[in-house]
Amino acid sequence: MAVDLLLGLQWGDEGKGKIVDVLTNNYDIIARFQGGPNAGHTLEFDGIKHVLHTIPSGIFHKNAINVVGNGVVIDPVIFKKELDNLEQFQLDITKTLLISRKAHLILPTHRLLDAASEASKGKAKIGSTLKGIGPTYMDKTGRNGIRVGDLEMSDWEEKYRALADKHESMIAYYDVQLEYDLEDLEKDFFEAVEVLKKLTFIDSEEYLYQARKNGKKILAEGAQGSLLDIDFGTYPFVTSSNTTAAGACTGLGIAPNQIGEVFGIFKAYTTRVGSGPFPTELFDSDGETMGRVGNEFGATTGRPRRCGWLDLVALKYAVQVNGVTALMMMKGDVLSGFDTIKVCTAYVYKGKEITHLPYNIEPENVTAVYSEMNGWQQDLTKMDHIDQFPDSLNAYIAFLEKELEVPIKIVSVGPDRTQTIHR
Ligand code: GDP
Ligand code: IMO
Ligand code: MG
Repeated sequence: MAVDLLLGLQWGDEGKGKIVDVLTNNYDIIARFQGGPNAGHTLEFDGIKHVLHTIPSGIFHKNAINVVGNGVVIDPVIFKKELDNLEQFQLDITKTLLISRKAHLILPTHRLLDAASEASKGKAKIGSTLKGIGPTYMDKTGRNGIRVGDLEMSDWEEKYRALADKHESMIAYYDVQLEYDLEDLEKDFFEAVEVLKKLTFIDSEEYLYQARKNGKKILAEGAQGSLLDIDFGTYPFVTSSNTTAAGACTGLGIAPNQIGEVFGIFKAYTTRVGSGPFPTELFDSDGETMGRVGNEFGATTGRPRRCGWLDLVALKYAVQVNGVTALMMMKGDVLSGFDTIKVCTAYVYKGKEITHLPYNIEPENVTAVYSEMNGWQQDLTKMDHIDQFPDSLNAYIAFLEKELEVPIKIVSVGPDRTQTIHR
């Protein structure tokens, strides 16, 4: 059985959590392959809203297994909080949630290093979620990291101390004001580690290999979005992992020829949280409306998300680098009420019109070129079939499908599980 992927195609927060939850009905295993608690994946059903950070979004389905893959970075403290939030739902977590031994641990000093690095950058800061993501992946590639499997070894606390001490001297190097009580942070950390140790650790690449061989259906869940990819995103304003399809291979140990469908998910407009270029960003009442109607506040940090029109140049690029086979369009309901909807179809880059994503999309190099389309006034949130769609929404969808050359298979018209329309 091939492994299907679900990936965000923009700057994150496309609605991955919602759709993974909806799709879990069709899968035996949901496996997160990268990122960590910088992610905030929202699910809504039965009138309750859940935000998951590290735990895969299939967790509420009692028959699905959820795997935290080797490519993920885990903060035991945040993980414990997520588990605490799940307690009321009486899920059999020790059976349905499995953790890769090769996943790396975020230490309290990784979080401090993130804060010190951002503070030292001043105006050039990335706008990181400050969850220690960058420093943890740096230790991974620098071959200094501590992994979940180390917790089963007798010398892990020595390893921990040596790394934390090194981090402290690095924090001092940054020469920024940072107030912290490491003893206090470590108390929480070691308590949370004990909780983590009660869960089931697995050799996840072997587990997934056997599952696949035995015909189990696997969906890989991405975090962040393609434009935050460490290689293909708007570097340096990116996260520290490969958020694109290739990241699912390295983050789970899935061979490239075992990938089946690649589901690409995007909002009907664009949002971005944190710093970095955003060619279609709006600073007017239209952007304000999107933010207000779309309730665009970060699920992890609560920061307001920057809003703008759909950027087809960037979206095409994401479809291309991921090999997307089916698209899902989210939050079309938020655009109800606009007389005109704009879509960026080209950039003027250094004075010339181009339709591919160039090396640098900072405002001094790039201006967005728009096509205009008729908007729709109808409320979409109560609709449950494509027959009910207004003509101008159908025209918008048809235009995007033609430009992107990939079918839009799901249109989401609200945050709830049930507000999901298949085409
Ligand atoms: P993720 O990180 O990709 O899982 O997305 P987030 O959860 O960070 O952000 C998506 C937000 O949009 C959440 O608050 C969802 O509840 C909400 N949402 C998802 N789909 C829709 C939709 O179709 N319409 C509306 N109005 N909200 C949606
Ligand atoms: P989900 O999975 C939106 C952004 C941060 C910052 C940059 C680097 O919910 O879509 P980091 O903490 O990784 O060092 O931050 O990436 N960022 C996200 N933006 N959604 C996310 O995840 C994000 N995870 C990181 O805002 O600009
Ligand atoms: Mg999110």
